[in-house]
Amino acid sequence: MKVISGPASKELAESISALTGYPNISVVAKIFPDGESYVRLDGSVQGEDVAIVQTTCPPMQDGRLMQLAFMADAAKRAGAGKVTAVVPYLAYARQDKTFLSGEGISVETVARMLGAAGIDELLTVNIHSENALGKFSFPAKTVSAIPLLAEYFVEKGYKGAFALSPDKGAMYIARQAQAILGGNAGHLDKQRDRYTGQTKQTAEGLNVKGQTVIIFDDIISTGGTIVGAAKILWDLGAKHVFCGCVHGLLIGDAEKRILDAGVEEIVGTDSVPSSVSKVSLAPLISKELKGAS
Ligand code: R5P
Repeated sequence: MKVISGPASKELAESISALTGYPNISVVAKIFPDGESYVRLDGSVQGEDVAIVQTTCPPMQDGRLMQLAFMADAAKRAGAGKVTAVVPYLAYARQDKTFLSGEGISVETVARMLGAAGIDELLTVNIHSENALGKFSFPAKTVSAIPLLAEYFVEKGYKGAFALSPDKGAMYIARQAQAILGGNAGHLDKQRDRYTGQTKQTAEGLNVKGQTVIIFDDIISTGGTIVGAAKILWDLGAKHVFCGCVHGLLIGDAEKRILDAGVEEIVGTDSVPSSVSKVSLAPLISKELKGAS
């Protein structure tokens, strides 16, 4: 197998090559003056299975998706065997059904596009809803980075901390963290108005008084969910509040808003390269690729 370094995840791809021993293929990428993307694989993939590592987080998630499709097409044309797309953050995965009449299913369109470009398998990380995986006509798998985030906090001395999910539907995330942290776990409840996008968060029977609480979530976008959760935790008498997220999109001033809400540290992964990417997905993805080859 060879690992292709997508322009959006160059460092992660290089770490995966270092861990797996699979040779790395770099990619020449540029954006034309009119905004169109260009990619060229800088090495031979003839007769090789390849893993293309390319996250599709903002900014320019549409362009990153196109780059991914172009790299897959280029690999197939150059004689590659199986093409696996390693896409830590999969754009559009949250639109996995029609919530309101007149909408499409964005992730299904993305899946068709990637399949048509030559991708044979998809590996992603903490996809928002596993339902989205069913929209792919080829094998698609998600793996969880929550244990790695929880281990980070254990190493920092927070063994026994309370693992909180900001939403009942994400309780599985809190449970995965709890398995590493060894403390209690719980969740808030979140209701979203599908027209305005406004959310309302509540806590029922949550006892975090005097405790160190770590909020775990798959995505931080505007930061509103974590800020709201932190306020509730302070009202309930939490002693320390931290936050671990897999995909720290941190749109606008999200990071500042979260820190201003009293969250002591935000810990993200290199799914979305940023100042909070303190945990690398390389070991998790390398293990999967090794298992698959
Ligand atoms: C949605 O349910 C996700 O799990 C996240 O909680 C959400 O995307 C976070 O968005 P924001 O940071 O804008 O509140």
